[in-house]
Amino acid sequence: MDPHTAGGFATRSPPTPMKNTFGHFSSDGREYVITEATRPPRAQINFLWNEKLISGVNQFGSGEGIFNDRTLLYNDPRGRVDAIRDGRRYFYVRDEDTGDVWNTGWFPTKVEGADYRATVGLGYSKYDIAYRGVEIGSKVFLAPDEPVEIWEFTVTNTGDAARKLRVLPYVEWLLLGYPTFSSKYSYYQSTFDPESRAVLSWNTSDERPHERYSGFVATDGEVKSWCGGRRQFLGPYGTVERPDGLKAEELASEEAWCEDLAGSLSIAVEVAPGETEKVTVLIGLFSTEEEKDRLISKILPAAYREKAFAGLLALKDDMIDRVLVDTPDERMNILTNIWAKQQTVLCAEFGRDGARGFRDTLQDAWGMAVFHPELAREKIIETLRHQCADGHCIRGWMPLQEHHYSDGPVWIVLAVLAYVKETGDLGLLDEEVAYLDGGADTVFGHMLLGMRHLSEDTGDHDLVRAHAGDWNDSLNWMGKNGVGESVWTSIGLYYALDVMLDFLCRKRPEEEALIDEVTRRRDRIREAVQTKGWDGNWYLAGWSDFGNPVGSEENREGSIFLNSQTWAVLADLAQGERRDQCLEAIDARLESDHGSLTLAPAYTERDENVGRVTMLLPGMYENGTPYCHSTAFKIAADLHAGRADKALESFHKVMPDSEAHPSAVSGVEPYAYTNQYLGPDNGRAGASLSGWITGTAGWMFRVVVEYFLGVRPDYDGFRIRPCLPSTWPGASLERTIRGKRYAIRIEREGEGYAIRVNGRPLEGDFVPYSG
Ligand code: GLC
Repeated sequence: MDPHTAGGFATRSPPTPMKNTFGHFSSDGREYVITEATRPPRAQINFLWNEKLISGVNQFGSGEGIFNDRTLLYNDPRGRVDAIRDGRRYFYVRDEDTGDVWNTGWFPTKVEGADYRATVGLGYSKYDIAYRGVEIGSKVFLAPDEPVEIWEFTVTNTGDAARKLRVLPYVEWLLLGYPTFSSKYSYYQSTFDPESRAVLSWNTSDERPHERYSGFVATDGEVKSWCGGRRQFLGPYGTVERPDGLKAEELASEEAWCEDLAGSLSIAVEVAPGETEKVTVLIGLFSTEEEKDRLISKILPAAYREKAFAGLLALKDDMIDRVLVDTPDERMNILTNIWAKQQTVLCAEFGRDGARGFRDTLQDAWGMAVFHPELAREKIIETLRHQCADGHCIRGWMPLQEHHYSDGPVWIVLAVLAYVKETGDLGLLDEEVAYLDGGADTVFGHMLLGMRHLSEDTGDHDLVRAHAGDWNDSLNWMGKNGVGESVWTSIGLYYALDVMLDFLCRKRPEEEALIDEVTRRRDRIREAVQTKGWDGNWYLAGWSDFGNPVGSEENREGSIFLNSQTWAVLADLAQGERRDQCLEAIDARLESDHGSLTLAPAYTERDENVGRVTMLLPGMYENGTPYCHSTAFKIAADLHAGRADKALESFHKVMPDSEAHPSAVSGVEPYAYTNQYLGPDNGRAGASLSGWITGTAGWMFRVVVEYFLGVRPDYDGFRIRPCLPSTWPGASLERTIRGKRYAIRIEREGEGYAIRVNGRPLEGDFVPYSG
C-alpha cells in the first residue's frame, strides 16, 4: 500500500527532494536513490539482517562504513564476529576483448565515464551502472533464515556487438576466531568445490568461538577460473583498485594456504546485442561440508530466491501498513511511516555495537509495540531473562555485559504496560520468565520486583543509587562505590510507579494492599526528587560517591544535564513554576543549532565524581552533544508541555537531511536517524559519525504518533490529544489497534481541534475499543 494514498489520504506527488543533497526518495518513500554516490561525506549504509547475519552495505555495495565497518557480522550469542575484512566485498567486471575492468558498484576501480546510482530499500539494496555499452544491475538481500547474502546480477548489452564478459566476485575473509597464542594463519586455507561452483575459505581452528567459521562464494554461472587468497587475486603488491589478477585472461585457480583468505570466481557472461543475461552469487558462512552443500542447493535456485524476496516485501508491507501518519511535513511522514520502523526493528534485533542492551531493547520494544507487537513481546521476554533475582538488571548480552546500571527496571514497566495497552494482551503479564542468576517469576513479578528493588536501593539523599550509571552509560563513576545516586533513575522510578499504579487501579482494583504499597513507594521517591534532586533552578543529575552534586549550578563543567529536566516534565514531577524553570533552563543553556545538548558546559577535565563522560572529547557521545536519543525525550517533553513549535524545531534538528542538517554536510543517511551530531565544542560540530544503530528511531516514531498527533492507546480505548505546530492546519493518522482499523482526522478549530474518527466527530478525547 502506498503510504501517501492509504485509506483515502490525498494522492501526493513524489516527495520534494531537499536542496543540496545527493539523492531522493522514490514516490512511495520506500526507496532512497543515491544519484551522486561520491558526494556524501561518509558512507551511506543500508542494513540487511536476519537472526544469523547482519550485513552492512554502502552505496557501492561494499561495506566500508568509515566510522564503523559492519560488513557481515555473524550473530552468535557470545558476540558478533566479523566475517569480512574492512568491508572488502567487491564485484569486478572484465571485458575479455578489451581488458577493461570496472566494478558493478563502481568502487574501487572508480572508472571515469560510468553512469552510476545506488538504491537503498527495506532489507535490500540495488546498484545500477552503465559503462561502455553494458548495463549491470545488482540486487542484494539475505536468505530469510540462513547466514547467506544473495547477489543477483542482470547484465544487458546496449551496444550492437556481442560482448564476452567475466563477472568476478571478490570477498576478503576475516573469519576471526582463533587461539590468541597462535596466529590465524595457522588455520587459514581455501579450496575450490567444482560441484557447488564455490570457492571455500576455511578457518579450521578447533578453538574458534563458534561453529560457523568458514565462508563460501558460490554461483549459478559458468566458472572459468577462481582464486582462494588475497595474494593470488591482488598480487603480492597489487591493490583492490588495480588487482594484478585481472591483468591476465583468467585467475590463477590457486588455493590459499596459511595466508590471507579471499574468495574469487571468474564467471563467464556472454551477452548478445540488446540481450540481458542473469547471474547469481551467494556469499555465506558455514561450518561443515554438508552445511555448505545444504545452503547452496537450497538458496541458489531461482524459485527460492524469488519467494524469499517476495516474502521480504510482504513483511515490510505489513509493518508499514499498521500505522500511517499524514502530516504537512512529508519527510516526517516518510521517516515515521517507513524508515523509523525499519530502523527500530533493526535496533531491536541487532542491539547496539557492544551488545544487546537491556534498556535499549526495551525502548525498541516500546517503540515497536505499535507496528510490530509480536516482535515487541518476544524482545520483552528476551530482555527480562537478563534481570537478576534481586531485581537489578545488567547492561546487556550478546556478549554478556554484567555492569549494574540502575535504570533497567524503569524500562520494564514502561515497555510492558505500553505493550499491554496497545494489544490488550494481559497474558504477557502471566508469562513465566527466568531470572539471569536462577529462579523465575511472571512478567508482572519481574516488574514488581524491579520497582521494589529500586525503591529500596536508595542512598543518603533517599534517591536511587546509580551504581554503574543510568540511561547515561558514561556517568559511570558517580555511583561506582555503591553510594552515589541518580536523579534521572529516581525520576524514572517515580514515572514507572505512577504508570504501574494507574494499571493497578484500573485493571486490578481488588489488589488494595499492592495499590497502597505502590502509592507509598511512589510518593516517597517523589518527595526525595523534589527536595534533594532539585538544585534551585533545575534538577540535578545526581550525587556522587563523595557526596558532591553532579549537574549542579555549583559545578563549573556539566552544570546542567538535559535528561533530568525532560523526564521531570514528562513524569509531571515538574509542574507549574518548576516546569517553566526546567524548560527555560533547557532553552537558555542546552539548545544548539544541532539539537539539545546532553549537558553543558561540556567537560574538559577528568572528574572522579562523574565518570567517563568527563574524558570523552567535548561534543562527543554524552559529553555536551546534541544526542538525538535524548533530544527525542526533549521533544516529547515539549509536546507534553504544549510547546509544539519548539518540538517541531527540535524535530527538524534531529531529522536526517533536514534544512538544519543537510546530509551532504552532516553525512547522515537521509533515511536513518543518527545517534548524535558532534557538539558545538567539537572541531567537527554537526557531523554524524554513524546512522541506524540508535534508540532515537523508536522514540522519534512514538513522538510523532503519540505526542504530535497524540493518539495513545490505553487499556480500554485510546485517547487523542494532539499538539500540532502552529503552521499545521491539521494532520491524519490511520492505524490498526486490536484488529480494528481507524482513520483519524485532526483539524484546527479555534483554540482547539475538531477530530473525526472513521468519519464521525469525536466528543471529548476518548475512543473506547468496544465502540
Ligand atoms: C548508547 C547506548 C544507550 C545509552 C546511550 C547513552 O546509545 O546504547 O544504551 O542510553 O548510549 O549513554
